[in-house]
Amino acid sequence: MSSQDKPFTVLFGRKEIAAVVSRLAAEIGRDYYNKHPILVAVLKGSFIFLADLIRLLDLPLEVEFVRLSSYGRGKESSGKVKVVQGLSAEVRGRHVLVIEDIVDTGLTTNFLLDYLRKKKPASVKLCSLTDKPSHRKLPVTIDYLGFTVPDRFLVGYGLDYDEKFRHLPDICFIKEEQ
Ligand code: IMP
Ligand code: MG
Repeated sequence: MSSQDKPFTVLFGRKEIAAVVSRLAAEIGRDYYNKHPILVAVLKGSFIFLADLIRLLDLPLEVEFVRLSSYGRGKESSGKVKVVQGLSAEVRGRHVLVIEDIVDTGLTTNFLLDYLRKKKPASVKLCSLTDKPSHRKLPVTIDYLGFTVPDRFLVGYGLDYDEKFRHLPDICFIKEEQ
């Protein structure tokens, strides 16, 4: 297959992603240097972003994972969010930073922020690699944002379509069928 036949168009290439992740690490490092945060990463989409981000953070931190389900298979959100795997650490009194891959309708993120706030942390902030504001149903404040993205379904750098394409090193959209 020649590069022209590839079914993906690169939206943000790996170098651009690396620059943005460095910028976010600098912002987070400045704000959290004496706070010993717990980073709560949302599985599965944020795993590559998290791995790159934390290796640039020169500060004491912990990592927790939560797994939520909102999407069925495919591109449409079911709108109903469930906790599939919750926190294993105590977050009461701790500074929590949520690490997301994308905020789309905002339903998943709002649900997670509520779930976390009920556990009485000292603070909760949100870092998202991407923001797709075109389908927002609930407002979300993103404290640390990588990219604002257009109304396209994105894959790569952790983002999937039907569990596929997470491993692509660039953030891409799938070309429409001819
Ligand atoms: P929301 O609840 O609509 O904000 O959706 C959040 C979740 O939907 C994200 O964590 C992703 O797993 C998934 N999602 C939304 N848009 C995309 C996309 O363009 N590509 C891949 N996953 C997406
Ligand atoms: Mg997903």
